[in-house]
Parts: sequence; structure tokens; C-alpha cells
Amino acid sequence: MSTSKTKDKYQIAVIPGDGIGKEVMDATILILDELDIDFDYVYGEAGDECGKKTGTPLPEKTLNIIRNADACLFGAAGETAADVIVKIRQEMKMYANLRPIKSYPNTNALFDDVDFMIVRENTEGLYIADKEELTEDGAIAKRVITKKAEERIIDYAFNYAKENNKSKVTAVHKANVLKKSDGLFRQIFYDVAEKYPDIEAEDFYVDATAMYLITQPQKFEVIVTTNLFGDILSDEGAGLVGGLGLIPSANIGEDGALFEPVHGSAPDIAGEGKANPIAMMLSAIMMLRYLNENEAAEKFEAAILKVLNDGETLTGDLGGSSSTIEVAEAIKNNL
Ligand code: NAI
Ligand code: MG
Repeated sequence: MSTSKTKDKYQIAVIPGDGIGKEVMDATILILDELDIDFDYVYGEAGDECGKKTGTPLPEKTLNIIRNADACLFGAAGETAADVIVKIRQEMKMYANLRPIKSYPNTNALFDDVDFMIVRENTEGLYIADKEELTEDGAIAKRVITKKAEERIIDYAFNYAKENNKSKVTAVHKANVLKKSDGLFRQIFYDVAEKYPDIEAEDFYVDATAMYLITQPQKFEVIVTTNLFGDILSDEGAGLVGGLGLIPSANIGEDGALFEPVHGSAPDIAGEGKANPIAMMLSAIMMLRYLNENEAAEKFEAAILKVLNDGETLTGDLGGSSSTIEVAEAIKNNL
């Protein structure tokens, strides 16, 4: 998941959004500014507040800022999230949703040695609700699976494995029941796998996977799956490693890439300086890796690890009492 060139200067679209989105974004920029990389931040508005102010939660101006940038950092939107983030993903053809599931120390992780990536197809399948309609008897939701989209995401997963020294990719589906759609998905998976002889390919049913995630999560390195299964399994993964304050994500597409924490605007704690900035920071680290700034990514992640290991400066969700900015300052001091 990386661009080929490393540039002298990057244009980064910064969209803090609503609620704690703004707080975790400020904390993250504080660290990015310490990394000796030339970032040109272009701020854009989106979300509930923006909707009230400008009449639309996602102005064309903001979309253009994202289009023109090398990458985008997104905080969180509130009630308008579907109109903002889902629309950005569609507009920018962001077909791959990446969610790393990794356990960190001093968190509520169920195991201390979990480290895998979920690669979720983001453009089709049951999750695309425009294929849903009411009928006389009830309702129908169509599940559209195309060779093109599934081949693209599966190839992305193998390529990710190759670039990140992972030895195995696991396809997750329900082909024993959904024989045509998931049967096709499984078939494509093994076809694509032939291009990657050095990487082991295996497949599991989604229900079994849901269990393995809790009983033997260490068996996974890279999971590739369709849209709705990916949505569900990635939240299970979040629970596995200790909750929303720690889970980053990336949306990668033909026309751009956007990095965001999985959490929302958290109105219950917004404005109080209580938000854990680490999910947003780990999202920024995914962006650094996407930009091939691997050294900076390592340095940033190591500083976060140090603060988590020390266990002295943690936000409330991790059992501490430090503020968002105190955590950011501690991470900055450990760079
Ligand atoms: P949420 O993720 O905002 O909050 C869920 C719970 O987790 C809350 O108790 C919150 O305080 C806590 N939490 C979340 N992030 C945290 C952090 N960084 N540090 C400490 N605690 C944290 O989800 P919720 O409550 O379902 O939705 C709130 C609003 O966010 C809604 O308006 C929803 O539409 C929006 N939302 C936006 C998303 C996006 O922009 N991508 C994603 C999910 C929800
Ligand atoms: Mg979800």
C-alpha cells in the first residue's frame, strides 16, 4: 500500500471534522511537525458543523482539496458521517479499506500477540445499500460481486502481504451457502494466488473466522474479504485488541488515499480533552507508510509504544487520567 516515490514535500488534506475529530487531529499534527518531513497541510471542512455553516456537510471545495492532495487525514464526522465519509470513499474510488488489528501493551487487548491486517472490499456487495428495495412481501437486498472488483482487492491483499513480509493471506467467505457469489470470490482468490507462489493462500468460512478471531487470532496475517463481512470482522477485531481509541484505518483508491481512526466524533466526551489520540496517530502512521516514509513511521510508532509501555500517561479509555494533549506531549518527548 505505498506510492512509488518519496517526495521532498507532500500536500496533505486535513479534515478534522466534528467533536473529538478536531482534538485528535491537533494532537497528531503536533507529532507530524516533529518528523523532519515537509508537509503542506491544506485544511478542509466537513461534517455536522460544516453542514450548519455552509448548507452541506461535504462541500465541493473540500472534495477538491482531497483530490489535489498526496493523501488525506480525516478526524471524524458526527451525524452526517454517512454523507461525508461514505461519499468521499465513493468519489475517490477508494476500493480498499485496511484495518490493522494489533495488540499494544497496557490496553484491554485480549491477547498480547495479535497482529494482522483486514483488507476489505469497499465498493460492492451487500453493504452497498443502493441495491436494496421494498417489495410487496417484504424487502430484497442484492449482493453484487464482480470479477473486476474482487480480483482488484485480492491482488491488493497479496501485494500487501508481499511488501510487508507476511507469509499468508486468508480469504474469508461463505461459499458453502452462497455458492455462486462467494464461490466466485473463492475461485478468484485461488486464481490470483497463483501469481504469488511465495505466499501461502488459505480460506475459511466467515462464521468459523468469527470464532477463530477470539480463540486463535494469532493464526491470521492478512485477511481479505467482501464488504459486509469485512465491516463486521473488523469491529470484532477492534474488540479483540482493546477498543476504538486505538484502531486506525486506511481507504486506498485509484484517485487518492484517506487515513482515519475508526471511531466517530464521540459527543459524550467531545470538548473535554479526554479523547485518546492514538487511533488518529496510528492512522497518520499508515499514511507515512503509504508515502514510503517508513523511517518516520517506525519512529512515531516506537514513541507511541514507549508511552503505552510506561503506562504513566494514558487517557481514560485505557484506565489513565491524562488529557489528549498530555498524551501527545509524552509521545513527542519519546520520539
Ligand atoms: P464513537 O466512536 O464516536 O463513540 C463510541 C464510544 O467510544 C463513546 O463512548 C466514545 O466516548 C468512545 N470513544 C470513541 N473514540 C474514542 C477515543 N478516541 N478516545 C476515547 N474514547 C473514545 O461512536 P458513536 O457514539 O456511535 O457515534 C458518535 C457520532 O460519531 C455519531 O454522530 C456517528 O454518526 C459518528 N461516527 C462517525 C464516524 C466517522 O466519521 N468515520 C464513525 C462512527 C461514528
Ligand atoms: Mg463498521
